[in-house]
Amino acid sequence: MIKSTIKGIGFHVPDHVVSNDDLAKLMTTNDEWITERTGIKERRHRINRNDAQETTAFLGYKASEKALQHAGLEAKDIDYIIFATLSPDYYFPGCGVILQDMLGCDTIGALDIRNQCSGFVYAMSVANAFIKSRIYKNILVVGSEVHSFGLDFSDKGRGVSVIFGDGAGAVILSATEDENAGDILAVNMHSEGKYADELCTKFPGSKYGWSDRMRTEPDQVTDEEVYPKMNGNFVFKNAVTRFPETMQEALDKAGKTIEDLDMFIPHQANLRIAQFVQQKFGLPDEKVFNNIQRYGNTTAASIPIALSEAIEGGKIKRGDLVLLSAFGSGFTWGSVLFQY
Ligand code: UT7
Repeated sequence: MIKSTIKGIGFHVPDHVVSNDDLAKLMTTNDEWITERTGIKERRHRINRNDAQETTAFLGYKASEKALQHAGLEAKDIDYIIFATLSPDYYFPGCGVILQDMLGCDTIGALDIRNQCSGFVYAMSVANAFIKSRIYKNILVVGSEVHSFGLDFSDKGRGVSVIFGDGAGAVILSATEDENAGDILAVNMHSEGKYADELCTKFPGSKYGWSDRMRTEPDQVTDEEVYPKMNGNFVFKNAVTRFPETMQEALDKAGKTIEDLDMFIPHQANLRIAQFVQQKFGLPDEKVFNNIQRYGNTTAASIPIALSEAIEGGKIKRGDLVLLSAFGSGFTWGSVLFQY
């Protein structure tokens, strides 16, 4: 039987650390509010918000190099790229092709995934399907974001801009028939597009325009349309409902129980959401991994960064049962249950 096993993993974040106190110099906020509401103490931003070098594809490239090294593979061994991001280098083309070029891969396929915070879970589900159907052998799955170039750091944007951070994580998912290897045991993906406006960035888009309005009515293009906007309370309430549903669905599908789980890695949206879910399932602290305190919410990158740190730190060992779950803009949500 063919298995989808995690052969390598790595992550990369910019060096520049931005503390809550640093943000309080730009807007009316404070460490106490951010810590209490989100758990975040600091995040990474590329040093210069307008830096054309430290792009989303570039962070993904740095994470991919580490994942390749961890797997003992070279770029030429990769036969497909799946790149999840909501902050691409270009409006189009997507980051997958930029990464293909940066790595010097052959003219392999490169697919971009646009599922925001659930992007990495969606990307892993797609990679798993390609492997199980014997189409590809070594798929590079990347989640990468540069949020800092596109946030409103004035008081108007403070409900959103204190949350997000920059970073990237990468996994190499490989086909194997080794009976001792790990495998993806269950996946699920969900969406509810009627809530698209509850967490979105409107510009540029075919619904809201771009070039015509920028040329003819530049004063009417509002900050609200250009920057991400979020109905925080509403998103929070949906997240704490959907997380348990998707987690239980993955466990049921694989015939496992919560007690079988060795590690749960939630998308790092808000520490309060993760703690709510942990409590609901009665999971002990050592079975949940959070690092939002240090990186903020890096959307599609948050799960691979956390997974990478957990593996690097010895908190996940070969053979362990691991659950990844996410919820975010779309709304989209889903899970991947795997044996490492
Ligand atoms: O990753 C994708 C999915 N995203 C999520 O799951 C995020 C879900 N939502 C959340 O995490 C929370 O809703 C937030 C952290 C975004 C906000 O926390 P909250 O407890 O829902 O706060 P709130 O939006 O209800 O705002 C409470 C107060 C408001 O002031 P008033 O109206 O009570 O006077 C805000 O204006 O806090 C104010 N506020 C701030 N104060 C200081 C909003 N942002 C800030 C800020 N610093 N940065």
